[in-house]
Amino acid sequence: MIQLFRPSVGEEEAAAVRETLVSGWLGLGPRTASFEERFACAVGAQHCVALSSGTAALHLALLALALPRDAEVIVPTLTFVATAHAAVLAGARVVFADVDPRTLDLDPDDVVRRLSPRTRVILPVHYGGHPCAMDELANLARGVGAVVIEDAAHATGASHRGRSIGSLSPLTCFSFGGIKNLTTGDGGCVTTSSAEHAATLRRLRWMGIDRDTWQRSQATASPVGAARRRPPADTDYEVASLGFKYQMNDIAAAIGLVQLAKLERMNARRRLLAARYDAALADLDWLSVPVVLPGVVPARHNYAIQLEQRDALRAWLAESGIATGVHYRPLHLHPFYRRDGVSLPVAERAWRRLLLLPLYPDLTLAEQDQVIDAVRSFGTRAKAAVATSAGAAAS
Ligand SMILES: Cc1ncc(COP(=O)(O)O)c(C=O)c1O
Repeated sequence: MIQLFRPSVGEEEAAAVRETLVSGWLGLGPRTASFEERFACAVGAQHCVALSSGTAALHLALLALALPRDAEVIVPTLTFVATAHAAVLAGARVVFADVDPRTLDLDPDDVVRRLSPRTRVILPVHYGGHPCAMDELANLARGVGAVVIEDAAHATGASHRGRSIGSLSPLTCFSFGGIKNLTTGDGGCVTTSSAEHAATLRRLRWMGIDRDTWQRSQATASPVGAARRRPPADTDYEVASLGFKYQMNDIAAAIGLVQLAKLERMNARRRLLAARYDAALADLDWLSVPVVLPGVVPARHNYAIQLEQRDALRAWLAESGIATGVHYRPLHLHPFYRRDGVSLPVAERAWRRLLLLPLYPDLTLAEQDQVIDAVRSFGTRAKAAVATSAGAAAS
């Protein structure tokens, strides 16, 4: 079976985990701090706060804004449910918006229709790693005194008009889940230019405690022998607020450090494979390949084609040993989020037509050729079937 997604991990990550396991420190510690520093540097952000998941990142980024009770958060309907759940968990009301038919990113024109005096956050998702129309969205947010929080779960390593995703908005949330462009097994982070937001996020990720265990252990462990002589206040901490257990641990961070060093190479391979799909499928008039707008460098988290015969192609590829995906059913069509009268036609149509083909750095060219051949042969077979039935009707 050719998998749909697959993490690109190997001996280097295994060695980093082994080293961490014997280091004597597994929790939030020096490797997490080092990952944060390097990730912030890689995306051009002032601060990075590493967390246990992308969902935690979204949840805490929203909480960091201390939203009022009636706050509304505008979310594209075509996303993973974490984007909307985070807003609900932060006590806000989710307002779904439609997507741009070309990119499947949040559509600024539809956002305009959803704005209200209660809009506090616009939460774009860089679908498949294609950066959203950030200038337009930032202008809309500014116009109503709202904040843009980016869901960059798919967009690690992407850039928009020459600037890395992670450096554009007050708060950007990344996911390092098992199938993401950069994986730590499970993990995530928030990048921000605000020292105040960073301090809030650090407190919230660790039970509302003002200093984490690693910081306190450093205070007592150094210099050697000083621990016993230091006053007990050094090991003390204060609980400043409610909080969560959302921190990244050093095992995940060790994997993340190796992955970060490989990120550009891995994303370049994704782009190469995407370009090969584009070239091999562009002449097929019964499907459309994903669009990349000028001015962005996408992270190519996925490769989503669209076609009317989606289910038939999906079955055909499964028979050929090729896994595919349909990401996502629009959130406003799920029972938990269904509301009377909400219609978001672009996302609804895309959902009926979407099909994700295998794309990951370790997909071999031979495997990709197999996928391409299977897609093309589906078209040939469908045309032959049409010709046969037309012939039968004529005779
Ligand atoms: C668009 C989007 N947002 C948020 C998340 C949540 O990230 P995580 O799985 O790390 O919690 C995901 C994960 O798949 C995602 O695809």
